[in-house]
Amino acid sequence: MGTAIATSKSIQSEEIFQLQQELIEKDKLLAQKDEELQSYLHMLSHELKTPIVTMQGYTSLLEDMFGDLLPEDGKKFLKGISNNVERLETLVKDLLTLSGIAIQHSEFTVVDINDLVDDIIIDLYGAYQFKKQPFTVQENMPKVFGHRDFLRHVYTNLLVNSIKYSNENVPLKIEIGCSFDEIFPKFFVKDNGVGIPSSARKRIFNMFARAGNKKNVSGTGIGLVIVQKIIEAHDGEIWFDSKKGEGTVFNFTLPVQKEQTSSF
Ligand SMILES: Nc1ncnc2c1ncn2[C@@H]1O[C@H](COP(=O)(O)OP(=O)(O)OP(=O)(O)O)[C@@H](O)[C@H]1O
Ligand SMILES: [Mg+2]
Repeated sequence: MGTAIATSKSIQSEEIFQLQQELIEKDKLLAQKDEELQSYLHMLSHELKTPIVTMQGYTSLLEDMFGDLLPEDGKKFLKGISNNVERLETLVKDLLTLSGIAIQHSEFTVVDINDLVDDIIIDLYGAYQFKKQPFTVQENMPKVFGHRDFLRHVYTNLLVNSIKYSNENVPLKIEIGCSFDEIFPKFFVKDNGVGIPSSARKRIFNMFARAGNKKNVSGTGIGLVIVQKIIEAHDGEIWFDSKKGEGTVFNFTLPVQKEQTSSF
């Protein structure tokens, strides 16, 4: 009797072991397929760049050299082509970034978030020429161990979203900071924009997902996918809270140096 139980136990553990091995193998296969897909996406978006640049060149030549000869309708059609070529360029650029986010941990350095954000804000001022200073940046945010260029992408995407999806009726306010209420420091970008409707909340981090919460704002719906991928490549998490008409706050965690967190 005792030996029968022992044998059935050892059969069970053998089965569990075999299932575990199968799972490990399937996991490896999936990771390999994912890598293949990434590299196809990368190649494809790279290949698309040349014809797009050529199209841009010809449309602008057409506009410059023969634009005046075209009737009004013709000018409109040409503008339609050039706008869409531009959209295609943005889309391909985003796809290229997305497929290139195989972050090398060897490229991680200590990143001063205050320094990074100040730098981005200068660029945004150049691009948007705000009438009133919309940014409030918390001083002395903790330094992060990460990939500076990719973290630049994170902040730029979030800040550009806050600007794009702003509330027309109130002056734009964007708060950038880090709170220490929880175990991990929580970085945030908070705005007083149009907010994200609850119907769109589940899909906002999906590819090409747009909430349609503000009219006439262009975009491809890839920005947040890129942001999430970068945060996850830093072993962090990203989530948001939003109230329609009142604003949105994007929160995320990043690896900060231990000595800094313990002092808070
Ligand atoms: N701060 C925000 N306030 C309100 N809505 C937002 C905010 N950030 C994102 N959204 C909503 O989430 C959608 C997805 O954002 P995401 O940045 O991925 O794409 P996008 O801005 O539409 O295009 P792009 O790929 O050019 O960034 C947006 O279309 C918008 O509807
Ligand atoms: Mg965006």
